Amino acid sequence: MPSMMIEVEGLTKRYGETQALAGVDFSVESGSILGLLGPNGAGKTTAVRILTTLALPDAGRGRVGGIDVVEHPGEVRRRIGVAAQDATLDPLLTGRQNLALVGGLSDMSRSASKARAAELLEQFELTDAADRVLKGYSGGMRRRLDLAASIMTRPPVLFLDEPTTGLDPTSRQRVWESIRELVAQGVTVLLTTQYLDEADALANQIVVIDHGKVIAHGTPRELKAASGSARLEVALSAPHPGAIAAIAPLVVGPVHLSADGRRLSAEVDASSGIATSVVRALDAVGVLVDNIEMRQPSLDDDVFFSLTGGHVSTTDADDAVDLGAARSVAGVLEHSSNVDAVEVGA
Ligand SMILES: Nc1ncnc2c1ncn2[C@@H]1O[C@H](COP(=O)(O)OP(=O)(O)OP(=O)(O)O)[C@@H](O)[C@H]1O
Ligand SMILES: [Mg+2]
Repeated sequence: MPSMMIEVEGLTKRYGETQALAGVDFSVESGSILGLLGPNGAGKTTAVRILTTLALPDAGRGRVGGIDVVEHPGEVRRRIGVAAQDATLDPLLTGRQNLALVGGLSDMSRSASKARAAELLEQFELTDAADRVLKGYSGGMRRRLDLAASIMTRPPVLFLDEPTTGLDPTSRQRVWESIRELVAQGVTVLLTTQYLDEADALANQIVVIDHGKVIAHGTPRELKAASGSARLEVALSAPHPGAIAAIAPLVVGPVHLSADGRRLSAEVDASSGIATSVVRALDAVGVLVDNIEMRQPSLDDDVFFSLTGGHVSTTDADDAVDLGAARSVAGVLEHSSNVDAVEVGA
């Protein structure tokens, strides 16, 4: 088994005037989840369609399990499961019939297909609805059945195109749990999403795309750290004249002091160990700390917004910038007009 289960190099696709993909590179390690994150029209589905052999790239290549998707589409199809963004199941058939149909289209025997369908209906808590037609399913039930259908043949690689779009929070959580279970069993997942919290909750690696280009990639943690500004709040047991000076070297920008002199707050780099350093620094000047809180930046508010906030997609430059352990993706994008891809971490 190759260590990189999905590999994409220079993937390019144009629809008329629209450059859906403009040279996208990424890879997905075996047994991990990659979150392909981007707004409407970013190119997510186009990438999925190419990798699942439903569309041909204009240039570049994709490999699944080491197999080229253009040269050997049949081989690739045997190894993958797909839960497409547009409904692919038949609304007039029951859940059970739909799964049986998926089994029948692969090489599964009737009995194997029937047994597997029953097992999946149970696993996705659809047994009660199994013999009702899909038309009457709720959105969440439908997405769970999509997921069940995609793993009928136990494929080692799974493509999930926006698996939770339109679901209520409870249904989302259930779909997330199912995805986590699959990965625990060793399945490799490429998941597209517009939701940063979803990528944050599920993905080992996140690739952010916008207008067909990769604009950032890294672990959720790296992307959050790259946005820099976690908020530190310290409650002192009593006001102390040396408190501000003690922590000033450890924070970014000014330290704010509450009117009663007992609460300090400041922006800090979201690096590990910062809370320990702050407590030590205060302790060293004899300040007692009652409470310390760190609010980590969220992918939603901080990272994604700054990445797709208009700085990026207007430039023509092609050079990707490797920031190493990047400190501020947002800052770099703001201060450099010819940067359009930022690699966070190694
Ligand atoms: N078959 C097609 N014909 C013409 N244009 C297309 C076609 N498929 C995609 N596009 C265009 O390519 C761009 C990328 O589309 P794509 O569906 O890949 O985006 P997406 O990231 O999946 O968006 P969404 O989050 O809305 O699903 C869009 O501008 C879209 O309009
Ligand atoms: Mg899409």
